[in-house]
Amino acid sequence: MSQHTEPYGQYIDGEWVAGQGTETFESVNPATGRPLATFERATEADVDQAVRAAESAAEEWRGYSYIDRAEVLWEVFRELRDRHTELGEIVTMESGKEISEGKADVTEAWHMVEWAAGNARHPHGDVVPSEIAAKDSYMRRKPRGVVGCVTPWNFPVAIPFWHMAVSLVEGNTVVWKPAEQTPWCGQIVAEMLADAGVPDGVFNLIQGFGDAGSAIVGDERVDTVLFTGSAEVGHQIADQVAGDPGREVALEMGGKNAVVITEAADLDVALHSAVMSSFKTTGQRCVSSERLIVHTDVYDEFKREFVELAEQVAVGDPLEEDTFMGPVIDERQVEKFHRYNKLARTEGATVLVDRADLPPAQIPEDHEDGRWVGPFVYEIEYDPTLRCLREEVFGPHVALIEYEGSVDRAIEIHNNVSYGLAGSIISDDYRQLNRYRDHGEVGLAYANLPCIGAEVQLPFGGVKKSGKGAPSARTVIEAVTERTAWTVNNSTDIQLAQGLSADITTEE
Ligand code: UN1
Repeated sequence: MSQHTEPYGQYIDGEWVAGQGTETFESVNPATGRPLATFERATEADVDQAVRAAESAAEEWRGYSYIDRAEVLWEVFRELRDRHTELGEIVTMESGKEISEGKADVTEAWHMVEWAAGNARHPHGDVVPSEIAAKDSYMRRKPRGVVGCVTPWNFPVAIPFWHMAVSLVEGNTVVWKPAEQTPWCGQIVAEMLADAGVPDGVFNLIQGFGDAGSAIVGDERVDTVLFTGSAEVGHQIADQVAGDPGREVALEMGGKNAVVITEAADLDVALHSAVMSSFKTTGQRCVSSERLIVHTDVYDEFKREFVELAEQVAVGDPLEEDTFMGPVIDERQVEKFHRYNKLARTEGATVLVDRADLPPAQIPEDHEDGRWVGPFVYEIEYDPTLRCLREEVFGPHVALIEYEGSVDRAIEIHNNVSYGLAGSIISDDYRQLNRYRDHGEVGLAYANLPCIGAEVQLPFGGVKKSGKGAPSARTVIEAVTERTAWTVNNSTDIQLAQGLSADITTEE
């Protein structure tokens, strides 16, 4: 295993280095408020060096065969499996996600590596017919070059692999900046890649803040920028990269996701799906649901039972297996959650469950300094202009919206936000399901399921304000490769399609 000691540094060109800065930062356990580890804070000069290393390594790496590149990733796959428990616990300690989620994050990462490395042996293009019998046409892929990856704290292992596994197998080199809240996960992932034998410079780790992320985004030698995180930052990145011809960007951002519960819903399925969608990961998935759109015929019964469950879901120490919800990530998120709860009240909400300031008795012993919040549930007269129904909170903040009439009315409410990432419909009427499938404005649509829990072999991504390109799961291949339409003439005679004359006529 690679040698490293605290403060942990950068991994640039195959070396663990402190970097050129003088500052360090700490990773903090959101369940206790106590520091976990110390890291050197990277500067723009470190990013410059990492991009230079990635650029110089690109030629050699793209010269490997797909299968040879995949072999390196299979080593990473074994590392992820071998260190599952250790890394799953670190995910939980650093992000506050309860332990089954901490471990699932690592599992999702190795699924992605498995997909990318397995895909190396699958066809990578198309044989395309031609109008001219003597022509053979193909679509082939080539790596774009250097890929810059900026990833969020909420899936600190899986999402980096969404970005990096396919990028590497496709022959790109990588500069990665993990979220500043989860650098320890970043450290372990980098150790795995280093130990797996990724050649020097092919993979580089930068530990830092937004300034380091901006330096990656702003560097013209970075051919593709992959970003998963907030819409605010994502749109800035898109604007910045759009100004550089030839550079590519793929973004996955948040949502104001909803679960639609129609009059034909099985109420147990509805309740189970709503609780999972709204409270799993303490509402901090990009796919978490903050709106429950419920038909008037089942509204009262659903409301009664949902409120009862929301009063009871177990908030607690994320390392304990019987915890359902851990803390939120940091003070900023606690503040945002309270700010939006207050806004909902100002906008006319009737509050049904208010565990926002978690009662001290519910806070686990010796965890008093954690970032604790509990579910906040309200009902509100539907008005599409209400900010509490339009803006993403990223916490257990849930609105119940009652609707009347056909499923089309529910779909109208569902679609009337600027985001479109994930959503779900609960109904036993297949016509309603299909109506939602065809008209719901989301990238990930579910029926009789929570709107969370996508598998890596699905194209993961949103529409409208939620995404552009897809820096995720199998779809990332489009963002990190270029297509070449390659046509070969098997004859000595040149013939063109579309009836275009290939005769060269002269004055004679
Ligand atoms: C996210 O919401 O930030 O679909 C990612 C899911 C997970 C990934 C979520 N596979 O819930």
